[in-house]
Amino acid sequence: MSAAGKTFYLETFGCQMNVHDSEKVIGTLVSQGYRQVEEETAADLILYNTCSIRDKAEQKVFHRLQDYKKLFVEGKRFGVLGCVAQQEGEKIFERAPYVSLVAGSASYHRLPELLVQIESGERRVTGLDDRQTEQTFETEFTARSNPHRGYITIIEGCDKFCAYCVVPYTRGKERSRTSDSVLAEARAMADQGYTDIQLLGQNVNSYRDPLGKKSFAELLTAVAEVTGIRRVRFTTSHPRDFTKDIVDAIESVPSLCDHVHLPVQSGSSRLLKAMLREYTREQYLDRIAWIKSAKRPISMTTDVIVGFPGETAEDFDESLALLEHVQYDGVFAFKYSPRPNTPALHLADPIPDEEKSLRLQALLERQREIQRVNYAKHVGQRLEVMVEGRNTPRGQIVGRSSQNKTVNFTTKHPIAPATGSYLHVEITQSFPNSLVGVMA
Ligand code: SAH
Ligand code: SF4
Ligand code: F3S
Repeated sequence: MSAAGKTFYLETFGCQMNVHDSEKVIGTLVSQGYRQVEEETAADLILYNTCSIRDKAEQKVFHRLQDYKKLFVEGKRFGVLGCVAQQEGEKIFERAPYVSLVAGSASYHRLPELLVQIESGERRVTGLDDRQTEQTFETEFTARSNPHRGYITIIEGCDKFCAYCVVPYTRGKERSRTSDSVLAEARAMADQGYTDIQLLGQNVNSYRDPLGKKSFAELLTAVAEVTGIRRVRFTTSHPRDFTKDIVDAIESVPSLCDHVHLPVQSGSSRLLKAMLREYTREQYLDRIAWIKSAKRPISMTTDVIVGFPGETAEDFDESLALLEHVQYDGVFAFKYSPRPNTPALHLADPIPDEEKSLRLQALLERQREIQRVNYAKHVGQRLEVMVEGRNTPRGQIVGRSSQNKTVNFTTKHPIAPATGSYLHVEITQSFPNSLVGVMA
């Protein structure tokens, strides 16, 4: 690779943390003199930021790596980043010998040094971290693709070790950024015109300020009070560490969005115990009661795993009953997928796959009806939305409410409102996943 014309192509799979890591990786590469290209054929360095949360996600990565093999020419380099990189480590070189870089997210702070090794012609460069590092990935430049809404990482890694989950093995141990550094980033974003910030971590409620200055709720409040910031969200919350002061903060600070994503995984205390989630159904419902008793309505969403080993029909019914009780505005439901290294891998799992599929289907159908009713409650209301763009096939404008609901709307004004602007919409119609309205 010549120092002058180094180009890279990056493709991202997985969750919001991966999307945001990629923005930081791009920032790092650009600072090192690389230029991003949209076509892999035009790139000297092809990078893949990967996800391993379920087997399907991992398989997709290996299929794409097979596709990439065809692109191999002398001088071109391939790198695998992210959760599959950390999970499979040097085994990736065996499966895909044309790969020359394998690095997990806990090693990204070493990325500049790893790039130098690749450039000097080393064939097998690794950045693998077996839950060692205390360091977070700080970048001087983050290549955010949206000029209005952006992510800020507040905590990396995970120490929870839920029985089914790869994340503690792929993202390293929990490490928080200082509140000063998070706030400096929020202020810098506000100066650049950002109004909407989402604080990220696999478990944001475990946030521990290394400076000892701020609790998670205090950090939330401080970011929400940065001049120019109009909306602050956070994800993901873990029910065990979700404290009442978070609800109090949302109640008292208008720019904290009225939405909490609180993954429950199962409605059965017996199963929660087997999943090593460290809370019971009752404790989870106590948290929900705090949220429901807030002065302004707070929208709730969750994640559910269906068919965890040993899930009986009764356990599953408890999950259904919990959805009924909470009345979520959104549920991400997944069929259990056995993952490497995790303790659940060794549990007996007598439930046939067809039965798991039926349960998943039943749960999604039930939830769709709940959402149909929830979303219909907005008809006749006037909601503030942030404009995101256009829904081209229907000619509508797309916005998002503070509760994180999609609002498709029309306007009588000859000039369409700008992306990133805030305005009010009268809601006229609803669906289970979106609202329709007219600009007020
Ligand atoms: N940190 C978050 C979740 C991150 S993973 C939390 O604690 O809730 C996102 C979701 O993927 C999880 O909430 C879970 O519902 C799902 N998930 C994780 N591992 C899974 C597995 N092995 N099989 C199926 N779904 C899984
Ligand atoms: Fe996975 Fe549990 Fe950590 Fe969430 S809290 S990332 S589900 S181990
Ligand atoms: Fe996937 Fe890793 Fe995120 S496994 S869901 S990219 S933490």
